[in-house]
Amino acid sequence: MPTSSMIEPEIPTDVNPIPASSYLSFLSKDAKARKPSPIRGLFPLEQTPGVISLLAGKPNAALFPFTSVQFTAPPSGADASGSEQTLLKVDDDLLAMGLQYAPTSGIAPMVEWLTEFQEQEHARRKSEGWRVSVTAGSQDALYKAIQALVDPGDPVLIEKPVYAGVIPIFEALHCEMIEVETDAEGLNSLSLRETLENWPSSKPKPKVLYTIPYGCNPTGATTSLMRRKEALDLSRKHNFLILEDDPYYFMYFGTRPRIASYFMLEAQTGDRSVGRVLRFDSFSKILSSGIRMGFVTGPAPLLDAIDRHTAIANLQPSSFSQAIILTLLRSWGRQGFLAHVQTVAAFYRAKRDVFEAAMRRHLHDIAEWNTPEAGMFFWFRLLLGENGDSESVIRTKAFEGGVLALPGTVFFPNGARTTYVRASFSLLEEEQVNEALRRLRVVMLKEKEDLKGQ
Ligand SMILES: Cc1ncc(COP(=O)(O)O)c(C=O)c1O
Repeated sequence: MPTSSMIEPEIPTDVNPIPASSYLSFLSKDAKARKPSPIRGLFPLEQTPGVISLLAGKPNAALFPFTSVQFTAPPSGADASGSEQTLLKVDDDLLAMGLQYAPTSGIAPMVEWLTEFQEQEHARRKSEGWRVSVTAGSQDALYKAIQALVDPGDPVLIEKPVYAGVIPIFEALHCEMIEVETDAEGLNSLSLRETLENWPSSKPKPKVLYTIPYGCNPTGATTSLMRRKEALDLSRKHNFLILEDDPYYFMYFGTRPRIASYFMLEAQTGDRSVGRVLRFDSFSKILSSGIRMGFVTGPAPLLDAIDRHTAIANLQPSSFSQAIILTLLRSWGRQGFLAHVQTVAAFYRAKRDVFEAAMRRHLHDIAEWNTPEAGMFFWFRLLLGENGDSESVIRTKAFEGGVLALPGTVFFPNGARTTYVRASFSLLEEEQVNEALRRLRVVMLKEKEDLKGQ
Protein backbone atom coordinates (compact mmCIF):
# COMPACT_ATOMS: atom_id res chain seq x y z
CA MET A 1 0.00 0.00 0.00
CA PRO A 2 1.41 3.41 -0.82
CA THR A 3 2.38 5.44 2.21
CA SER A 4 4.07 8.69 2.83
CA SER A 5 7.11 6.84 4.13
CA MET A 6 7.80 5.40 0.70
CA ILE A 7 7.81 8.78 -0.96
CA GLU A 8 10.64 11.06 0.04
CA PRO A 9 10.09 13.96 -2.34
CA GLU A 10 12.83 16.45 -2.98
CA ILE A 11 12.38 19.72 -1.19
CA PRO A 12 12.10 22.49 -3.79
CA THR A 13 14.45 25.41 -3.24
CA ASP A 14 12.98 28.03 -5.55
CA VAL A 15 9.69 28.89 -3.83
CA ASN A 16 8.31 32.42 -3.50
CA PRO A 17 6.69 33.10 -0.15
CA ILE A 18 4.04 35.78 -0.42
CA PRO A 19 5.04 38.87 1.61
CA ALA A 20 4.13 38.78 5.30
CA SER A 21 2.46 42.18 4.90
CA SER A 22 -0.12 40.74 2.49
CA TYR A 23 -1.78 38.80 5.32
CA LEU A 24 -3.16 42.02 6.77
CA SER A 25 -5.80 41.98 4.04
CA PHE A 26 -6.75 38.40 4.97
CA LEU A 27 -7.16 38.97 8.70
CA SER A 28 -10.58 39.67 10.18
CA LYS A 29 -11.28 42.82 12.19
CA ASP A 30 -11.39 40.66 15.34
CA ALA A 31 -7.98 39.17 14.61
CA LYS A 32 -6.49 42.60 13.99
CA ALA A 33 -7.98 43.90 17.22
CA ARG A 34 -6.60 41.05 19.35
CA LYS A 35 -3.42 42.14 21.06
CA PRO A 36 -0.75 39.68 22.15
CA SER A 37 -1.35 38.57 25.75
CA PRO A 38 0.65 40.93 28.00
CA ILE A 39 1.85 37.99 30.10
CA ARG A 40 2.16 35.17 27.52
CA GLY A 41 3.87 37.56 25.09
CA LEU A 42 6.74 37.86 27.59
CA PHE A 43 7.09 34.10 28.24
CA PRO A 44 10.01 33.65 25.81
CA LEU A 45 12.04 36.24 27.75
CA GLU A 46 12.01 33.93 30.77
CA GLN A 47 14.55 31.82 28.88
CA THR A 48 17.06 34.71 28.72
CA PRO A 49 20.21 33.52 30.53
CA GLY A 50 20.70 35.19 33.91
CA VAL A 51 17.17 36.63 34.10
CA ILE A 52 15.13 36.00 37.26
CA SER A 53 11.46 35.84 36.32
CA LEU A 54 8.71 37.21 38.55
CA LEU A 55 6.38 37.10 35.58
CA ALA A 56 3.88 34.32 35.28
CA GLY A 57 1.31 33.24 37.81
CA LYS A 58 2.59 29.70 37.58
CA PRO A 59 1.62 27.35 40.41
CA ASN A 60 4.54 25.80 42.26
CA ALA A 61 5.12 22.43 40.63
CA ALA A 62 6.53 20.99 43.87
CA LEU A 63 2.93 20.53 44.95
CA PHE A 64 1.68 18.79 41.80
CA PRO A 65 0.80 15.26 42.86
CA PHE A 66 2.06 13.56 39.68
CA THR A 67 5.63 12.44 40.20
CA SER A 68 5.90 9.90 37.43
CA VAL A 69 3.81 8.99 34.40
CA GLN A 70 4.19 5.81 32.43
CA PHE A 71 2.00 3.97 29.99
CA THR A 72 2.17 1.00 27.68
CA ALA A 73 1.99 1.10 23.91
CA PRO A 74 2.47 -1.44 21.14
CA PRO A 75 5.66 -1.35 19.09
CA SER A 76 5.21 0.85 16.04
CA GLY A 77 3.10 -0.71 13.34
CA ALA A 78 1.67 -3.39 15.64
CA ASP A 79 -1.98 -3.71 16.48
CA ALA A 80 -2.78 -1.98 19.80
CA SER A 81 -4.67 -5.07 20.95
CA GLY A 82 -1.62 -7.31 20.43
CA SER A 83 0.13 -8.90 23.38
CA GLU A 84 3.47 -7.20 22.71
CA GLN A 85 3.55 -3.93 24.64
CA THR A 86 6.36 -1.55 25.58
CA LEU A 87 6.42 0.35 28.85
CA LEU A 88 7.10 4.03 28.15
CA LYS A 89 7.96 6.57 30.80
CA VAL A 90 7.49 10.30 30.28
CA ASP A 91 10.95 11.89 30.80
CA ASP A 92 11.27 13.98 33.95
CA ASP A 93 11.97 17.15 31.95
CA LEU A 94 9.07 16.49 29.66
CA LEU A 95 6.77 15.70 32.56
CA ALA A 96 7.73 19.00 34.18
CA MET A 97 6.72 20.77 30.94
CA GLY A 98 3.56 18.71 30.68
CA LEU A 99 2.37 19.60 34.15
CA GLN A 100 2.97 23.35 33.94
CA TYR A 101 1.63 26.25 31.88
CA ALA A 102 3.47 26.25 28.57
CA PRO A 103 3.82 28.32 25.38
CA THR A 104 0.60 29.11 23.54
CA SER A 105 1.74 27.39 20.35
CA GLY A 106 2.80 24.18 22.11
CA ILE A 107 5.77 22.93 24.13
CA ALA A 108 9.04 23.51 22.27
CA PRO A 109 10.09 19.85 21.70
CA MET A 110 6.62 18.96 20.40
CA VAL A 111 6.57 21.90 17.99
CA GLU A 112 10.08 20.94 16.86
CA TRP A 113 9.08 17.32 16.25
CA LEU A 114 6.03 18.34 14.28
CA THR A 115 7.88 20.98 12.26
CA GLU A 116 10.52 18.48 11.21
CA PHE A 117 7.79 15.96 10.41
CA GLN A 118 5.92 18.45 8.21
CA GLU A 119 9.15 19.43 6.43
CA GLN A 120 9.73 15.83 5.41
CA GLU A 121 6.15 14.76 4.87
CA HIS A 122 5.21 17.71 2.68
CA ALA A 123 8.65 18.58 1.30
CA ARG A 124 8.66 22.10 2.69
CA ARG A 125 11.39 24.14 4.40
CA LYS A 126 10.61 26.04 7.53
CA SER A 127 12.59 28.99 6.15
CA GLU A 128 9.65 29.61 3.79
CA GLY A 129 7.76 31.57 6.41
CA TRP A 130 5.50 28.86 7.83
CA ARG A 131 5.38 27.31 11.26
CA VAL A 132 3.32 24.91 13.37
CA SER A 133 1.02 25.48 16.36
CA VAL A 134 -0.40 22.69 18.48
CA THR A 135 -4.14 22.90 19.12
CA ALA A 136 -6.81 21.07 21.10
CA GLY A 137 -7.76 18.93 18.09
CA SER A 138 -8.28 20.33 14.62
CA GLN A 139 -11.76 21.61 15.47
CA ASP A 140 -10.14 24.09 17.84
CA ALA A 141 -7.74 25.22 15.12
CA LEU A 142 -10.50 25.47 12.52
CA TYR A 143 -12.70 27.58 14.77
CA LYS A 144 -9.86 29.96 15.54
CA ALA A 145 -8.64 30.12 11.95
CA ILE A 146 -12.10 30.99 10.67
CA GLN A 147 -12.48 33.64 13.36
CA ALA A 148 -9.07 35.00 12.36
CA LEU A 149 -9.92 35.29 8.68
CA VAL A 150 -13.61 35.82 8.23
CA ASP A 151 -15.62 38.91 9.12
CA PRO A 152 -19.36 38.78 9.78
CA GLY A 153 -21.25 38.57 6.51
CA ASP A 154 -18.22 37.60 4.39
CA PRO A 155 -18.70 35.14 1.54
CA VAL A 156 -16.80 31.86 2.03
CA LEU A 157 -16.26 28.97 -0.36
CA ILE A 158 -17.28 25.60 1.01
CA GLU A 159 -17.70 22.13 -0.44
CA LYS A 160 -21.19 20.85 -1.13
CA PRO A 161 -21.81 18.86 1.04
CA VAL A 162 -19.63 20.22 3.83
CA TYR A 163 -18.39 18.88 7.19
CA ALA A 164 -21.28 19.65 9.55
CA GLY A 165 -18.82 20.78 12.25
CA VAL A 166 -17.91 23.99 10.40
CA ILE A 167 -21.43 25.05 9.47
CA PRO A 168 -22.23 26.57 12.89
CA ILE A 169 -18.93 28.49 12.84
CA PHE A 170 -19.83 30.12 9.55
CA GLU A 171 -23.46 30.54 10.57
CA ALA A 172 -22.52 32.37 13.75
CA LEU A 173 -20.60 34.80 11.56
CA HIS A 174 -23.63 35.13 9.26
CA CYS A 175 -21.40 34.19 6.35
CA GLU A 176 -22.65 33.67 2.87
CA MET A 177 -21.69 30.03 2.29
CA ILE A 178 -20.97 29.65 -1.41
CA GLU A 179 -21.24 25.96 -2.25
CA VAL A 180 -18.74 24.40 -4.63
CA GLU A 181 -19.86 21.13 -6.24
CA THR A 182 -18.10 17.87 -5.39
CA ASP A 183 -18.20 14.39 -6.90
CA ALA A 184 -16.30 11.10 -6.76
CA GLU A 185 -13.06 13.03 -7.48
CA GLY A 186 -13.66 15.42 -4.59
CA LEU A 187 -13.80 19.18 -4.98
CA ASN A 188 -14.99 20.06 -8.46
CA SER A 189 -12.50 22.69 -9.61
CA LEU A 190 -14.63 23.51 -12.65
CA SER A 191 -17.48 24.53 -10.36
CA LEU A 192 -14.96 26.54 -8.33
CA ARG A 193 -13.67 28.24 -11.47
CA GLU A 194 -17.18 29.09 -12.67
CA THR A 195 -18.10 30.54 -9.30
CA LEU A 196 -15.02 32.74 -9.25
CA GLU A 197 -15.16 33.78 -12.89
CA ASN A 198 -18.79 34.81 -12.56
CA TRP A 199 -18.22 36.66 -9.32
CA PRO A 200 -20.05 40.03 -9.37
CA SER A 201 -17.47 42.81 -9.69
CA SER A 202 -19.26 44.87 -7.04
CA LYS A 203 -18.93 42.17 -4.40
CA PRO A 204 -15.79 41.45 -2.33
CA LYS A 205 -14.26 38.13 -3.31
CA PRO A 206 -14.12 35.25 -0.83
CA LYS A 207 -10.95 35.06 1.25
CA VAL A 208 -11.14 31.36 2.03
CA LEU A 209 -11.98 27.97 0.56
CA TYR A 210 -12.67 25.27 3.14
CA THR A 211 -11.95 21.75 1.83
CA ILE A 212 -11.30 18.20 3.09
CA PRO A 213 -8.96 16.62 0.54
CA TYR A 214 -8.70 13.05 1.87
CA GLY A 215 -11.68 10.81 2.68
CA CYS A 216 -13.98 13.79 2.98
CA ASN A 217 -16.49 13.93 5.79
CA PRO A 218 -19.22 13.24 4.69
CA THR A 219 -18.61 12.09 1.07
CA GLY A 220 -15.58 9.85 1.62
CA ALA A 221 -14.10 11.34 -1.58
CA THR A 222 -10.40 12.09 -2.05
CA THR A 223 -9.69 15.08 -4.28
CA SER A 224 -7.64 14.15 -7.34
CA LEU A 225 -4.25 15.66 -8.09
CA MET A 226 -5.53 17.56 -11.11
CA ARG A 227 -8.37 19.10 -9.12
CA ARG A 228 -5.97 20.10 -6.34
CA LYS A 229 -3.64 21.78 -8.82
CA GLU A 230 -6.54 23.65 -10.39
CA ALA A 231 -7.84 24.81 -7.01
CA LEU A 232 -4.34 26.04 -6.17
CA ASP A 233 -4.09 27.90 -9.48
CA LEU A 234 -7.40 29.55 -8.71
CA SER A 235 -6.30 30.49 -5.20
CA ARG A 236 -3.38 32.35 -6.78
CA LYS A 237 -5.45 33.96 -9.47
CA HIS A 238 -8.28 35.04 -7.17
CA ASN A 239 -6.15 35.48 -4.06
CA PHE A 240 -7.89 33.29 -1.51
CA LEU A 241 -6.56 30.97 1.17
CA ILE A 242 -7.12 27.22 1.14
CA LEU A 243 -8.13 25.81 4.52
CA GLU A 244 -6.91 22.24 4.08
CA ASP A 245 -8.71 20.27 6.77
CA ASP A 246 -7.03 16.88 6.56
CA PRO A 247 -7.86 14.66 9.57
CA TYR A 248 -8.14 11.62 7.27
CA TYR A 249 -4.78 12.16 5.53
CA PHE A 250 -3.16 9.28 7.40
CA MET A 251 -6.18 7.07 6.80
CA TYR A 252 -5.56 6.79 3.07
CA PHE A 253 -5.92 3.17 1.99
CA GLY A 254 -6.23 3.51 -1.77
CA THR A 255 -4.09 1.40 -4.08
CA ARG A 256 -2.66 4.31 -6.07
CA PRO A 257 0.24 6.41 -4.79
CA ARG A 258 -0.69 9.02 -2.23
CA ILE A 259 -1.71 12.38 -3.69
CA ALA A 260 0.33 15.35 -2.50
CA SER A 261 -1.27 17.71 -0.01
CA TYR A 262 -2.13 21.27 -0.97
CA PHE A 263 0.61 22.32 1.44
CA MET A 264 3.12 20.28 -0.57
CA LEU A 265 1.74 21.19 -3.97
CA GLU A 266 1.87 24.92 -3.52
CA ALA A 267 5.67 24.72 -3.42
CA GLN A 268 5.79 22.60 -6.56
CA THR A 269 3.25 24.05 -8.95
CA GLY A 270 2.67 27.21 -10.97
CA ASP A 271 4.80 30.17 -9.97
CA ARG A 272 5.62 28.38 -6.68
CA SER A 273 4.25 31.24 -4.66
CA VAL A 274 3.64 29.79 -1.23
CA GLY A 275 1.64 30.94 1.76
CA ARG A 276 -1.96 30.45 0.68
CA VAL A 277 -2.48 27.09 2.39
CA LEU A 278 -3.40 26.66 6.02
CA ARG A 279 -3.21 22.97 6.84
CA PHE A 280 -5.03 21.24 9.70
CA ASP A 281 -3.81 17.88 11.01
CA SER A 282 -5.31 15.82 13.78
CA PHE A 283 -4.16 12.98 16.01
CA SER A 284 -7.80 12.14 16.78
CA LYS A 285 -8.28 9.39 14.24
CA ILE A 286 -4.85 7.82 14.54
CA LEU A 287 -3.70 8.10 18.17
CA SER A 288 -6.65 9.11 20.34
CA SER A 289 -9.61 11.42 19.92
CA GLY A 290 -9.98 12.00 23.65
CA ILE A 291 -6.42 13.24 24.08
CA ARG A 292 -7.52 16.31 22.07
CA MET A 293 -4.51 17.12 20.01
CA GLY A 294 -4.09 18.44 16.51
CA PHE A 295 -1.78 20.91 14.83
CA VAL A 296 -2.07 23.66 12.29
CA THR A 297 0.64 24.44 9.77
CA GLY A 298 0.86 27.58 7.67
CA PRO A 299 2.04 31.15 7.24
CA ALA A 300 3.43 32.60 10.47
CA PRO A 301 1.20 35.73 10.46
CA LEU A 302 -1.92 33.54 10.35
CA LEU A 303 -0.63 31.25 13.07
CA ASP A 304 0.21 34.28 15.20
CA ALA A 305 -3.43 35.34 14.86
CA ILE A 306 -4.62 31.87 15.87
CA ASP A 307 -2.25 31.86 18.84
CA ARG A 308 -3.52 35.27 19.97
CA HIS A 309 -7.01 33.76 20.02
CA THR A 310 -5.78 30.72 21.97
CA ALA A 311 -4.05 32.99 24.49
CA ILE A 312 -7.40 34.54 25.42
CA ALA A 313 -9.68 31.53 24.88
CA ASN A 314 -7.89 28.65 26.61
CA LEU A 315 -4.32 29.94 27.15
CA GLN A 316 -2.72 26.93 25.42
CA PRO A 317 -3.37 23.36 24.30
CA SER A 318 -2.89 20.72 27.01
CA SER A 319 0.83 20.37 27.70
CA PHE A 320 0.12 17.07 29.45
CA SER A 321 -1.39 15.59 26.26
CA GLN A 322 1.64 16.84 24.36
CA ALA A 323 4.01 15.17 26.84
CA ILE A 324 2.23 11.84 26.44
CA ILE A 325 2.12 12.02 22.65
CA LEU A 326 5.70 13.19 22.36
CA THR A 327 6.89 10.30 24.53
CA LEU A 328 5.17 7.92 22.15
CA LEU A 329 6.46 9.67 19.03
CA ARG A 330 10.03 9.77 20.35
CA SER A 331 9.89 6.08 21.07
CA TRP A 332 8.50 5.22 17.63
CA GLY A 333 10.40 7.85 15.63
CA ARG A 334 9.07 9.20 12.36
CA GLN A 335 9.30 5.86 10.57
CA GLY A 336 7.61 4.12 13.48
CA PHE A 337 4.79 6.65 13.41
CA LEU A 338 4.37 6.08 9.67
CA ALA A 339 4.32 2.32 10.26
CA HIS A 340 1.57 2.89 12.84
CA VAL A 341 -0.58 4.94 10.46
CA GLN A 342 -0.15 2.25 7.81
CA THR A 343 -1.61 -0.24 10.28
CA VAL A 344 -4.46 2.16 11.01
CA ALA A 345 -5.16 2.65 7.29
CA ALA A 346 -5.10 -1.11 6.62
CA PHE A 347 -7.56 -1.63 9.47
CA TYR A 348 -10.01 0.89 8.00
CA ARG A 349 -9.57 -0.53 4.53
CA ALA A 350 -10.71 -3.91 5.87
CA LYS A 351 -13.66 -2.23 7.63
CA ARG A 352 -14.56 -0.46 4.40
CA ASP A 353 -14.51 -3.75 2.51
CA VAL A 354 -16.78 -5.43 5.03
CA PHE A 355 -19.21 -2.52 4.91
CA GLU A 356 -19.23 -2.38 1.15
CA ALA A 357 -19.83 -6.12 0.86
CA ALA A 358 -22.85 -5.69 3.15
CA MET A 359 -24.05 -2.73 1.09
CA ARG A 360 -23.86 -4.85 -2.05
CA ARG A 361 -25.81 -7.57 -0.28
CA HIS A 362 -28.57 -5.43 1.20
CA LEU A 363 -28.72 -2.14 -0.69
CA HIS A 364 -27.59 -3.00 -4.24
CA ASP A 365 -31.00 -2.18 -5.74
CA ILE A 366 -31.95 0.68 -3.46
CA ALA A 367 -28.81 2.81 -3.13
CA GLU A 368 -25.82 4.12 -5.10
CA TRP A 369 -22.39 5.03 -3.83
CA ASN A 370 -18.73 5.58 -4.64
CA THR A 371 -16.09 3.53 -2.87
CA PRO A 372 -14.07 5.68 -0.43
CA GLU A 373 -10.28 5.37 -0.48
CA ALA A 374 -9.68 7.14 2.80
CA GLY A 375 -11.42 7.99 6.02
CA MET A 376 -14.37 6.25 7.62
CA PHE A 377 -17.52 7.20 5.74
CA PHE A 378 -19.80 5.86 3.08
CA TRP A 379 -22.00 8.50 1.47
CA PHE A 380 -24.80 6.81 -0.36
CA ARG A 381 -27.80 7.98 -2.29
CA LEU A 382 -31.09 6.28 -1.58
CA LEU A 383 -32.97 5.54 -4.79
CA LEU A 384 -36.23 7.02 -3.63
CA GLY A 385 -37.24 8.80 -6.83
CA GLU A 386 -38.17 12.44 -7.23
CA ASN A 387 -40.19 12.75 -4.04
CA GLY A 388 -37.63 11.01 -1.88
CA ASP A 389 -35.91 12.68 1.03
CA SER A 390 -33.48 10.92 3.33
CA GLU A 391 -34.34 13.27 6.20
CA SER A 392 -37.57 11.61 7.31
CA VAL A 393 -36.57 8.11 6.21
CA ILE A 394 -33.30 8.15 8.10
CA ARG A 395 -33.96 10.43 11.04
CA THR A 396 -37.31 8.93 12.02
CA LYS A 397 -38.24 5.75 10.20
CA ALA A 398 -34.81 4.12 10.15
CA PHE A 399 -34.32 4.94 13.82
CA GLU A 400 -37.68 3.38 14.64
CA GLY A 401 -36.53 0.41 12.59
CA GLY A 402 -33.45 0.12 14.83
CA VAL A 403 -30.72 1.79 12.80
CA LEU A 404 -29.15 5.19 13.27
CA ALA A 405 -27.33 7.08 10.51
CA LEU A 406 -27.04 10.69 9.43
CA PRO A 407 -29.41 12.14 6.84
CA GLY A 408 -27.51 14.11 4.21
CA THR A 409 -29.38 17.33 5.06
CA VAL A 410 -27.09 18.04 8.02
CA PHE A 411 -24.24 18.61 5.57
CA PHE A 412 -26.10 21.15 3.44
CA PRO A 413 -26.14 24.54 5.16
CA ASN A 414 -28.52 26.01 2.64
CA GLY A 415 -31.24 23.50 3.50
CA ALA A 416 -31.11 21.44 0.30
CA ARG A 417 -33.36 18.41 0.11
CA THR A 418 -31.33 15.25 -0.49
CA THR A 419 -31.58 11.50 -0.63
CA TYR A 420 -27.99 11.07 0.59
CA VAL A 421 -27.05 9.38 3.85
CA ARG A 422 -23.74 9.23 5.73
CA ALA A 423 -22.80 5.98 7.39
CA SER A 424 -19.65 5.46 9.41
CA PHE A 425 -17.85 2.13 9.02
CA SER A 426 -15.22 2.66 11.72
CA LEU A 427 -16.66 0.71 14.63
CA LEU A 428 -19.02 -2.11 13.75
CA GLU A 429 -18.21 -5.78 13.36
CA GLU A 430 -19.38 -7.63 10.26
CA GLU A 431 -22.44 -9.12 11.94
CA GLN A 432 -23.66 -5.73 13.18
CA VAL A 433 -23.02 -4.12 9.79
CA ASN A 434 -25.13 -6.77 8.08
CA GLU A 435 -27.90 -6.44 10.63
CA ALA A 436 -27.91 -2.62 10.37
CA LEU A 437 -28.12 -2.69 6.59
CA ARG A 438 -30.72 -5.46 6.61
CA ARG A 439 -32.87 -3.23 8.85
CA LEU A 440 -32.29 -0.27 6.56
CA ARG A 441 -33.45 -2.37 3.62
CA VAL A 442 -36.70 -3.21 5.39
CA VAL A 443 -37.34 0.50 6.09
CA MET A 444 -36.44 1.47 2.53
CA LEU A 445 -38.69 -1.11 0.89
CA LYS A 446 -41.59 0.11 3.00
CA GLU A 447 -40.80 3.72 2.15
CA LYS A 448 -40.72 2.93 -1.57
CA GLU A 449 -44.11 1.28 -1.27
CA ASP A 450 -45.49 4.30 0.57
CA LEU A 451 -44.07 6.70 -2.02
CA LYS A 452 -45.65 4.68 -4.82
CA GLY A 453 -49.03 5.05 -3.15
CA GLN A 454 -48.72 8.86 -3.03
C1 LIG B 1 -13.41 16.97 8.65
C2 LIG B 1 -13.19 17.08 10.11
N1 LIG B 1 -12.54 18.13 10.58
C3 LIG B 1 -12.30 18.25 11.89
C4 LIG B 1 -12.73 17.32 12.79
C5 LIG B 1 -12.43 17.51 14.25
O1 LIG B 1 -11.36 16.71 14.62
P1 LIG B 1 -10.58 16.85 15.99
O2 LIG B 1 -11.00 15.69 16.83
O3 LIG B 1 -9.15 16.84 15.64
O4 LIG B 1 -10.99 18.16 16.61
C6 LIG B 1 -13.44 16.20 12.34
C7 LIG B 1 -13.93 15.19 13.28
O5 LIG B 1 -14.65 14.28 12.97
C8 LIG B 1 -13.67 16.07 10.95
O6 LIG B 1 -14.30 15.02 10.42
